[in-house]
Amino acid sequence: MSQKFRVVLQKVVDYSYEIEIGERLFGSLIKDLKQGLVLNVSKYAIITDSKVKPLYGEPLLDQLLQNGFQAELFTFPAGEGSKTRETKAALEDQLLSRSYGRDSCIIAVGGGAVTDLAGFLAGTYGRGVPSLNYATTLLAAADASVGGKTGVNTPVATNLIGVFHQPKKVYIDLAAWKTLPLREFRSGLAETIKHACMADASFFSFLENNMEKIVSEQGELVLDRSVCEQIALKNCEIKYNVVEQDELESNLRQILNLGHTAGRALEAVSGYELLHGEAISIGLVIQAKLAEKLGYVTTDQSQRVIELLKKAGLPTEIPAAITNRMLMDKMYTDKKVRSGRIRFVFQDGIGAMKQFENGSYSTPVDEHVVMELLEQIRI
Ligand SMILES: NC(=O)c1ccc[n+]([C@@H]2O[C@H](COP(=O)([O-])OP(=O)(O)OC[C@H]3O[C@@H](n4cnc5c(N)ncnc54)[C@H](O)[C@@H]3O)[C@@H](O)[C@H]2O)c1
Repeated sequence: MSQKFRVVLQKVVDYSYEIEIGERLFGSLIKDLKQGLVLNVSKYAIITDSKVKPLYGEPLLDQLLQNGFQAELFTFPAGEGSKTRETKAALEDQLLSRSYGRDSCIIAVGGGAVTDLAGFLAGTYGRGVPSLNYATTLLAAADASVGGKTGVNTPVATNLIGVFHQPKKVYIDLAAWKTLPLREFRSGLAETIKHACMADASFFSFLENNMEKIVSEQGELVLDRSVCEQIALKNCEIKYNVVEQDELESNLRQILNLGHTAGRALEAVSGYELLHGEAISIGLVIQAKLAEKLGYVTTDQSQRVIELLKKAGLPTEIPAAITNRMLMDKMYTDKKVRSGRIRFVFQDGIGAMKQFENGSYSTPVDEHVVMELLEQIRI
């Protein structure tokens, strides 16, 4: 006869947190810490990358120290190539050697690569310590601020290893966008345009009407404060509405993959020469034209998507060096592939997503239909 003991682990938790959007928010962060935003912390570890370090990491460290906090800066080389288990382990060893314990708080300062890596570290260090995100890129503001996904890349695929770890607060510093290289900024706009295509027709029109207040046709960052604020806020709202309804990615969250079936494949076959947002931009064009072919959007609507991407200075054509076959083959490695069939999520007009008869937001599309489309749009 065996004995049984039931471990009851049901509990109600509140992971809610605030996202503050503004310019130069170090003062706000320090005030929050003084007012007890994070409890029982004796040491702060700022994690940043080599490019963000002199711009925002060191200035934040100075301010923390001046205000009597115990803090140190930990840096890794900038770039997606550093978002690995090895970098995480190296940072963990540094923290351990500096006696960081469970009474530590991680402050991630940087773009999405930093917040993903530092958030993953925070989620596992000492079985989990609190973290704050100080987002310095549009992409981190648009996409990485909501959802709690953290993680690192592996040689097999990106973001494969990680945990869900919600920060205690996110600061979106709009002033930091001014130091972003133009190409990085534009790349971040692709996820913003994706959000508009997916969920908000009036936000789409807002972007059509205000793009030149953010980035001029000549490629200068204009960054009108109120337009940037609206962009940051809308991105958070749209992503939150999706994630809140489907935290564990069972169906609705798939819509965030708009443009990503072809986009991710393009990013990989370009050998990561295309930035993520650039690849997603072309992926958005491919899904819009395919959606047009399948009758989910009109010609006028797919043209509006293409024009908006162009206005943002994003690429809308598949680079000549990438053949349709290369692209097609890579699409078969997409995480949505089921029973060997490539699946897409599609816009339903502008500002809504197509839901199919079985309730799913993704649908298989036959290879010959995709191939035919790729041939048509290359002309
Ligand atoms: N967790 C999520 O939900 C989520 C969502 C979307 C993207 N991501 C991840 O985000 C990453 C891409 O985001 P990203 O583009 O912010 O990456 P990033 O952190 O690599 O930043 C891009 C580049 O800009 C530099 N930089 C950052 N802020 C700067 C500033 N203010 N001024 C000058 N240079 C600056 C960085 O050093 C880097 O070289 C990817 O790793 C992606 O997987 C995560």
